[in-house]
Amino acid sequence: MTHATQKEAYPYFVAAVLLFALQVILGLLTVVKYIWPDPLLDILPFNTSRAIHINLLVFWLLLGFMGGTYYMIPEESDAELYSPTIARVQLGILLAGGVGAIVGYLFGISWGMPFLEQPVIIKVLIVAAALMFLFNVFMTVQKTKHWTAIQGVLIGGMVFLAIMFLFGIVFMKNLATQYYFWWWVIHLWVEGAWELITGAIMAFILLKLTGVERGLVEKWLYVEIALVLFTGIIGTGHHYYWIGTPDYWYWWGGIFSALEPLPILFMVVDTMRNVRERKLEIKNRVAYHWAIGCAWFHFVGAGIWGFAHTLPQVNQWTHGTQVTASHGHMAFFGAYAMVNLTMIYFALPRLKGMADYEQGRGIFAFWVMVSGMFMMGLGFAVAGIVQTYFNRIMGVDFLTTQDYMKLWFMVVLVCAIFFSVGVYTFVYDFFALKAKSA
Ligand code: HEM
Ligand code: HEM
Ligand SMILES: [Fe+2]
Repeated sequence: MTHATQKEAYPYFVAAVLLFALQVILGLLTVVKYIWPDPLLDILPFNTSRAIHINLLVFWLLLGFMGGTYYMIPEESDAELYSPTIARVQLGILLAGGVGAIVGYLFGISWGMPFLEQPVIIKVLIVAAALMFLFNVFMTVQKTKHWTAIQGVLIGGMVFLAIMFLFGIVFMKNLATQYYFWWWVIHLWVEGAWELITGAIMAFILLKLTGVERGLVEKWLYVEIALVLFTGIIGTGHHYYWIGTPDYWYWWGGIFSALEPLPILFMVVDTMRNVRERKLEIKNRVAYHWAIGCAWFHFVGAGIWGFAHTLPQVNQWTHGTQVTASHGHMAFFGAYAMVNLTMIYFALPRLKGMADYEQGRGIFAFWVMVSGMFMMGLGFAVAGIVQTYFNRIMGVDFLTTQDYMKLWFMVVLVCAIFFSVGVYTFVYDFFALKAKSA
């Protein structure tokens, strides 16, 4: 660590890691409902467990991003954090809101729209915490006014993220209008704001790990960001094909979203170039694995899997099937879980004051998680193709089709258990990290 207040990141990482562990349990509880009669039907029905599963996902990823930001900003600005107290209070508010939301779902208090099921009061708490966070970060940079491209893109991404969330707070009576704006939150988060945050975090970590020149890293960061915005904003149209919006979205959505894999591919090329030109010996191999793995899995899950169903000619068959779930898992894991794990492994030894640490367990967890999620993603994809074929093409009714898909949910379950071994090894490693004996 270069600054004492960077340690404010640690409680954020602890919360993120524990919620990740819980998210995985909810995933397992959700998938078994597809396979066997559900004994929890009255306590935890499918819609509730699914809502908790994906809320925990977004929640831990956002906490990870915030922790990562609190770690990076003092180092980039060369200034102590403006207010450690704000950082702690803000975390308290978010955790209270998160627990409140989940308890509410268990009692059926939900808006129903995936990812944004929280009632307004909780959304207001989240906004308050986000404003405190942005204020704290901005004031820290203002201390030295040492604005770097990395900080600019990171904070820009955070402001973009916060503004988009506001479109999820207004309740519209017309369902088509509601979903039109729902995508401004969901799509413009994962294919806009979060891409900017990821670009900035990856640039920071590659800079520190490989010692390549800052000028070069920052130059490509600008290019990537420009491309993400150019393709991602109009690419929102790939969600407007079937919700009553005008026909021109077939063209706009199709063409622009088909270009979205380009900036993601660019990030892979850029990462590999940084690696080739590295000047430092890589000590933290676990962080290095996650960084390179993230670039590739981001491209596979978001770029290739996204492209596969983004054209209206394909999407008319696959829309809302398990093909979507396959892409959702691969993209969220490959891009955003992995960038968080990169940041956590980069910062953790420094936060624990270790010059070097035992890395075997971390690398084991990396390979188990990555291969587990890849196979799980394939399992969902085959379930989705079976579903598309029987239900959409052959016209077999929805529930009869579920029978044909069951085998593939079993495959998903087996792979998910394997994946969970990786997750829990990671959770253990997070708390038990040991300095390397000389
Ligand atoms: C043990 C591991 C996991 C299992 C068994 C699991 C299972 C499931 C199931 C059954 C669903 C509902 C699919 C449907 O709507 O029909 C779901 C949804 C989802 N899960 Fe997981 N999950 C796991 C881990 C994860 C992880 C690690 C992530 C992200 C990093 C994730 C992200 C998602 C997302 C984004 C959705 C919503 C997908 C959509 O909108 O179509 N899951 N999960
Ligand atoms: C890391 C970035 C990305 C993440 C985390 C992500 C995640 C998701 C999730 C969770 C859904 C399901 C939403 C729902 O209906 O509940 C979805 C849908 C979709 N995504 Fe992505 N995505 C990403 C990037 C992309 C890219 C780059 C493309 C295109 C090249 C793409 C194409 C699509 C399409 C076409 C759908 C709609 C599927 C349907 O009709 O059901 N995604 N994405
Ligand atoms: Fe999208």
